[in-house]
Amino acid sequence: MSERTQVGIVGAGPAGLVLGHLLHGMGIEAVVLEDRSREYVERRIRAGVLEQGTVDLLKEMGVGARMEREGLVHEGVELRFGGRGHRIDFVALTGGRAITIYGQQEVVKDLIAARLDFGGPLLFEVEDVRPEGIESGSPTLRFRHEAVERELRCDIVAGCDGHHGVCRDAVPAGALTVHQRDWPFAWLGILAEVAPSSDELIYCHSERGFALHSLRSPELTRLYLQCDPYDELDSWPDARIWEELHTRFATDGWSLAEGPIVERGITPMRSFVAEPMQHGRLYLAGDAVHIVPPTGAKGLNLAVADVRVLAEGLERFFSTGDQSLLRAYSDTCLRRVWHTQHFSWWMTSMLHRMPDDHDGFQAKLQLAQLDYVCSSPAASTSLAENYVGLQL
Ligand code: FAD
Ligand code: PHB
Repeated sequence: MSERTQVGIVGAGPAGLVLGHLLHGMGIEAVVLEDRSREYVERRIRAGVLEQGTVDLLKEMGVGARMEREGLVHEGVELRFGGRGHRIDFVALTGGRAITIYGQQEVVKDLIAARLDFGGPLLFEVEDVRPEGIESGSPTLRFRHEAVERELRCDIVAGCDGHHGVCRDAVPAGALTVHQRDWPFAWLGILAEVAPSSDELIYCHSERGFALHSLRSPELTRLYLQCDPYDELDSWPDARIWEELHTRFATDGWSLAEGPIVERGITPMRSFVAEPMQHGRLYLAGDAVHIVPPTGAKGLNLAVADVRVLAEGLERFFSTGDQSLLRAYSDTCLRRVWHTQHFSWWMTSMLHRMPDDHDGFQAKLQLAQLDYVCSSPAASTSLAENYVGLQL
């Protein structure tokens, strides 16, 4: 079975779905191919923090109604270290910008519903997607769907298939340069059915390692603990998780409420960039081409920023044949990508216990940096403007 479209999008995560929706608004045809089921992608719990720019874009795209009702606007975060909390006031420091807490799976649900509403092609459970001919003028996506071999001829392929997808590997060896750091720790994340113990996020540095208090709703708390990257979930029974969280967050006059743990997982920490973000007619976006450690809450936002640039380039290309924006795609995105890599690396380095810090020297530097960030208006403004999202 052979079909044609203008843009073949691989992956129905935030990058692929936002791109599909932007293109629809521009009158450009696209087909989205996803190898998981709809239920799976709608339940996958990941990011929770949306930058102001991401929120504004989702609203402009007409998919922000539920986010506006259910999302929680946060005007600051707490940095906790040395057993004391310090608030970073985003609104005051950035001229009124804030973040919104709204789960990634909710964004994904809203985008899938909007796409299916207008009858936009979106195929779940496709198998064996193969991008071919990306160096030609007419690349092809071959795949199997419901036991039928299919071929989708495209003008452009957008690789939005995450870090373990197939698109990045379709680029010939040597054409991409990879920059990568694996961090010597991971995050154990839980979702607990209990009201959050704080109205705002708490990023906590402690002698026993990093901990993060976040939330999903007035009834759901999301918590993370720095752990060993080789830890298995079996070595973290509920009692150990709670004990460790209480110890790390300990401060006078505050306590962490416990509740049933309804979801848990261990996430390795990696910094990764492959560049350029384009080869021939294949454009890579989001986690398919870069990964940041989650400490800066940037992955989803960066994925959305990429496809916004890509959509503008595609609109110019399809309406006038002018390829200049598409040619600039990689350089335009990489500027934000590397700013964001730096911020995520900085937050990660400042807040985690370093396993090789045998004499405590690095911990002393971290505490000095945290003290500076919380006492200098220049330093707290730098954190705030990066956290709410750079206007590049
Ligand atoms: P993905 O979301 O990975 O989407 C890729 C899609 O492609 C998936 O649906 C996948 O199933 C599909 N796919 C893969 N291979 C194929 C194939 N061969 N064929 C077809 N489809 C395929 N980011 C933030 O901004 N803020 C946060 O607070 C934050 N917290 C995080 C917490 C955790 C625990 C984790 C793990 C991540 C967090 N992130 C956060 C990062 C964020 O979740 C990712 O950066 C984001 O999902 C990237 O979106 P994407 O669309 O590029 O990739
Ligand atoms: C989350 O709520 O899942 C979350 C919040 C902040 C981060 C990472 C994850 O830095």
